[in-house]
Amino acid sequence: MVCQRGALLILMFVVNMGLVCGCVCPAATILSQFPSEVPADVCCLNYSGSAFSHVHWSVFTNETNIVTLDLSFCNISSLHTSDKDVSSLQKVYLGHNRLTVLPREFLAGQPNLTELDLSGNLIQELPEGFLQASDGLQKLNLYGNQLRLLPGSVLQKPSLQTLELDGNPWDCSCLLLEGLEEGRKVNRTAELEDLVGNLTCVSPRFLAGRTVLSVTLRDVCRPAALTALFIVLPLLILSGLAALLVLWEEEEEERTNIKHLKKESFQLQQRPEASQQAETCSHGAE
Ligand SMILES: *[C@@H]1O[C@H](CO)[C@@H](O)[C@H](O)[C@H]1NC(C)=O
Ligand SMILES: *[C@@H]1O[C@H](CO)[C@@H](O)[C@H](O)[C@H]1NC(C)=O
Ligand SMILES: *[C@@H]1O[C@H](CO)[C@@H](O)[C@H](O)[C@H]1NC(C)=O
Ligand SMILES: *[C@@H]1O[C@H](CO)[C@@H](O)[C@H](O)[C@H]1NC(C)=O
Ligand SMILES: *[C@@H]1O[C@H](CO)[C@@H](O)[C@H](O)[C@H]1NC(C)=O
Ligand SMILES: *[C@@H]1O[C@H](CO)[C@@H](O)[C@H](O)[C@H]1NC(C)=O
Repeated sequence: MVCQRGALLILMFVVNMGLVCGCVCPAATILSQFPSEVPADVCCLNYSGSAFSHVHWSVFTNETNIVTLDLSFCNISSLHTSDKDVSSLQKVYLGHNRLTVLPREFLAGQPNLTELDLSGNLIQELPEGFLQASDGLQKLNLYGNQLRLLPGSVLQKPSLQTLELDGNPWDCSCLLLEGLEEGRKVNRTAELEDLVGNLTCVSPRFLAGRTVLSVTLRDVCRPAALTALFIVLPLLILSGLAALLVLWEEEEEERTNIKHLKKESFQLQQRPEASQQAETCSHGAE
């Protein structure tokens, strides 16, 4: 009796451990076409190595319990999402596809997401709302894309531990540096240095090859007053020049007018008869 109960306890313990440890993924199922529906009640879908090109995201999020989704190496070039799907997804692998853009609000409503791999794509920017609800995010892999700007919101995730950023043409702009500065203030377990320490600037040219942590806000952000001056100063100079030109022209005009007047009055004084004659002539003609 005691033994049976012990065995039952051990069994329950093992089952519980299985649930806690999460879901064990099977080896990949290779498909040649994107499925219109997926098996109900599986915790992991592994289609790594399939050939999909277009992916309808709602198939994975609409009334499923999928926790892990592996769509790496699937030749995916476009993703379609319908609104801000909320799902049970925790780990999403989309590495080594041909994605250039991600739809607006992609993965915006994923409260349980802890890991996302987007490495080895051609993504140029991260979309609006990206990972908005994923405050438990721990790992984000952006290695080997075409990204220039890292949105500050990524660095606000309090549990973020691993951030892969290499292999992107990062632009160390004022916006990027300000995002980093905000990220420094967040109460996070990992240090900012451990997250972005390897981010190397590719542009602007005068910062190429520098690590982002060696760049200060002052290097890239002109104070607003100075910027304003740079815009206003040429305008002031131009309008000053224009005013001078107008004045000069007016003066010149006046001077020639005076000359003409002088000349005319001189001519009138010189030949009064001629004009009288002309008058009589015209009278005669009438
Ligand atoms: C999916 O399958 C591939 C190949 O069978 C394997 O290498 C990969 O680890 C699997 N994915 C996950 C998340 O376990
Ligand atoms: C990947 O997709 C492109 C275009 O959609 C296609 O030409 C190519 O054959 C695909 N590659 C594989 C391995 O399916
Ligand atoms: C979600 O699935 C249900 C049935 O399973 C279906 O009726 C509905 O149209 C689906 N919604 C979307 C957005 O695909
Ligand atoms: C997220 O995880 C919690 C705890 O495991 C679970 O209760 C909840 O339903 C999950 N959220 C979604 C949207 O699946
Ligand atoms: C930061 O987090 C620690 C541990 O979670 C907490 O004790 C501390 O009060 C937090 N500090 C701020 C400023 O929120
Ligand atoms: C930064 O790069 C060095 C050498 O390339 C590597 O050893 C280290 O792990 C990297 N750190 C991070 C946080 O990626």
